[in-house]
Amino acid sequence: MGGDESEKRRLASINNLTGREVFELVRSDLQKVEEEFNQQSVSDVPAITEIGQYLQVSGGKRLRPALVLLSAKLCEFDGPAAIRLGAVVELIHTATLVHDDVIDGADTRRGRPSTNSRWGNHMSVLAGDWLYMQAFNIALAERNFKILDVLIGLTQVMVEGELLQLTLLRKLKLTEDEYFELAYRKTACLFSASLRLGAILGGKGEEVEMKLGSYGINLGLAFQLVDDLLDFVSSEEKLGKPIGSDLREGKITLPLIYLLQRCRPEETEKISRVLDEGGFHSVQFFEILELMEHYGALQAAREKARKIAEQAKAALESFPDSPYKDALRS
Ligand code: IPE
Ligand code: IPE
Ligand code: MG
Ligand code: MG
Repeated sequence: MGGDESEKRRLASINNLTGREVFELVRSDLQKVEEEFNQQSVSDVPAITEIGQYLQVSGGKRLRPALVLLSAKLCEFDGPAAIRLGAVVELIHTATLVHDDVIDGADTRRGRPSTNSRWGNHMSVLAGDWLYMQAFNIALAERNFKILDVLIGLTQVMVEGELLQLTLLRKLKLTEDEYFELAYRKTACLFSASLRLGAILGGKGEEVEMKLGSYGINLGLAFQLVDDLLDFVSSEEKLGKPIGSDLREGKITLPLIYLLQRCRPEETEKISRVLDEGGFHSVQFFEILELMEHYGALQAAREKARKIAEQAKAALESFPDSPYKDALRS
């Protein structure tokens, strides 16, 4: 009984914010991150500036800078370094997307032609390199080895992740553990680093940094999993890229792993054909979707995402109540 009461009190103390309300909390700082990004994507070489500006105006959710800002505020830090580090993580994210679209041969990103389809692979690879170095340049100005440690480690983990993914393409027997390792490297690691940077700025010590980092890992894993689900159930209009891209690119994601665990050999053969043909030629996308529905694979992946999101929230428990804690929890 007593346990129920305290659970009720705990739930009543949670203010669930909408996405809009979360971003509203850091809106003016995000505007400054935007200005910083804009200023920092200028080079003496016009082609770099042109690509940098194209990427800046193409939008994106700016989730990672928002995480730096919320984490810094949760750790009672307020100052221009949080803005600069917000721009740093967004520049790193942008560089990985530019390189990723080259690797994946993607034509669209954020609803517009990808950098590689506008400027070609050669220019895009170099622009991506330049953006990485620009990010490190800004970070270097903080003269803080801990910050550089996090950022350099992070970038290596992400690059290794993209490489590892290449070696695991079209592997029908990909395990759930392998999937989560890729999701950690590609996405969760940057989420985690963004949160840790906020904690480092606040100077709250190792334990707080680790708690926020662990929250970031689970948030990032859930985010990647939802992104992978959306690749099956959303629309090109909403995603800004064609749906079914993962399968076409040979990427085995969790919904597909769950399907492969449950379906019959002749159905596995269909999936295998999509991977071999590199697209939906002799097998149509809706046939795969029907199998997903039939075997409850999408539902199982949704349930997994929900569980990981719960774990993310648990890591925030010990922080004192504040609008920033509500925002991260929501
Ligand atoms: C795209 O990240 C790459 C993934 C980790 C799935 P986002 O969905 O955050 O991309 P933008 O920045 O909002 O376009
Ligand atoms: C996105 O990876 C890039 C990184 C997270 C490094 P994906 O190739 O899986 O995602 P999209 O579909 O291009 O955004
Ligand atoms: Mg891609
Ligand atoms: Mg990729």
